[in-house]
Amino acid sequence: MKSYNGNTNVMDMFEKGKVLKICAPMVRYSKLAFRSLVRKYNCDICFTPMIVAADFMRSVKARDSEFTTNECDRPLIVQFAAHDAQTLADAACVVAPFSDGVDLNCGCPQRWAMSEGYGACLINKPELVKDMVRHVRNQVDNPNYTVSIKIRIHKDIKQTVDLCQKAESAGVSWITVHGRTTEERHQPVHYDAIKTVKDSVSVPVIANGDIKYLRDVESAHQLTGVDGRMTLQWTAVALFLYVEVGLLVILCLPFISAKRWRIIFQLRIWNFMARFWNKVFLTMIVILIVLFLDAVREVRKYSGRDLGTDAKLQPNMFDHLHMKLFRAQRNLYISGFAVFLWLVMKRVITLINQLASVSENTAALQTQADNANQAAKKYMDDNEQLKKALMEGKGDKATADGMELLRKEVEKLKGELKTTGDALKQSQSAADVMKKQTDGLAREYDRLLKEHQALQNLQDAGSKKDD
Ligand SMILES: Cc1cc2nc3c(=O)[nH]c(=O)nc-3n(C[C@H](O)[C@H](O)[C@H](O)COP(=O)(O)O)c2cc1C
Repeated sequence: MKSYNGNTNVMDMFEKGKVLKICAPMVRYSKLAFRSLVRKYNCDICFTPMIVAADFMRSVKARDSEFTTNECDRPLIVQFAAHDAQTLADAACVVAPFSDGVDLNCGCPQRWAMSEGYGACLINKPELVKDMVRHVRNQVDNPNYTVSIKIRIHKDIKQTVDLCQKAESAGVSWITVHGRTTEERHQPVHYDAIKTVKDSVSVPVIANGDIKYLRDVESAHQLTGVDGRMTLQWTAVALFLYVEVGLLVILCLPFISAKRWRIIFQLRIWNFMARFWNKVFLTMIVILIVLFLDAVREVRKYSGRDLGTDAKLQPNMFDHLHMKLFRAQRNLYISGFAVFLWLVMKRVITLINQLASVSENTAALQTQADNANQAAKKYMDDNEQLKKALMEGKGDKATADGMELLRKEVEKLKGELKTTGDALKQSQSAADVMKKQTDGLAREYDRLLKEHQALQNLQDAGSKKDD
């Protein structure tokens, strides 16, 4: 993380998506010894106490006593109180080689500070804040050096949003929001206001106030909706997408037949899950569509900005916006594909089921057609034998037996024909085949019946002669 000259790119730390633990500036406390101590307990970034920029620039003595640091004291943000853009920029240039960013105090509510135009009174002077941010941005050479502001909120949150957006347009790197108004001291922090600010700017926003334990960091993180939570949410969507792709690949494997899939789908576990299937399907669709729309909104938010101008104004800001745009686009793709594959998967499962039942019906029809063919063949053989017997002039008994046999066969065949006709209705494609067979058989019956009639006539004629 550390560059050759010891500088740390603080903006990279925000990009990592984890929740950063930052030790806020505290006059009299946040000195080198205190910073060294908190760094031993996983503090990610430290602030110096507020230093009055004008005093700092006035004498070497003030500089030496107000600002001490060492090599291990990084990443470090030096906080200044200032009401003049050039003084702040000068002070920033002095500390830039030994630190990673400067911060403008816009939150100190103390009367002495307010009366001198420092601290919280600056939240009502957005143009001045903008000017100071821009001066520092333009005069510090290091493009990775951050310039941030630490503010309190207004009673009317719109004013806070306006201040932050102005600072953002001037190239502020990140903003710390102490979620109390200038008048409030120990009242509960307005996390909703911090969230509003967070939602209205693209730069990282740090929630400040009422953080007493490590667990408070997580709850503040949850309440203000910062980036870490989004990362978890989109990781889940990406995982879901990979699962969908995996399942589709398995469903499309060529050596697993539709019949086999049907057996798998008919397992008891699926029957149990089928009860919730429709609800799960619809819930997933709704969730994914909401995420998709959220991603569309994000893409529109970041692609609407003039990235070209921002690049000249502030390289960090440019990279940051690009990163946000890239992430929004990635989220758009993964949620869009997840919805699409979810629908495709449902369709594929339905088609596999349909294919399995059609092949089962076709197999049954085939068996019935084979049986009918065999019966017809047998019937023809019997008929042939009967004919032979008649030709050979065998007695009435043989003829009568033959006739009886023939009648039974005809009855049996008729029954089979009826079953075949019913089955034919089930499948249109198989029906054509069966229709042909039925027609053939019907013709054959007619012919046989005619022959039968003719044989009977012959027999009657023979009987009369005998009489
Ligand atoms: C002793 C003390 C000194 C402080 N000094 C500064 C300071 O120099 N600059 C600043 O921006 N905030 C300063 N603060 C405010 C804190 O940085 C922080 O915003 C505040 O403590 C958060 O509210 P909390 O007390 O509910 O945690 C100071 C707070 C205390 C308690």
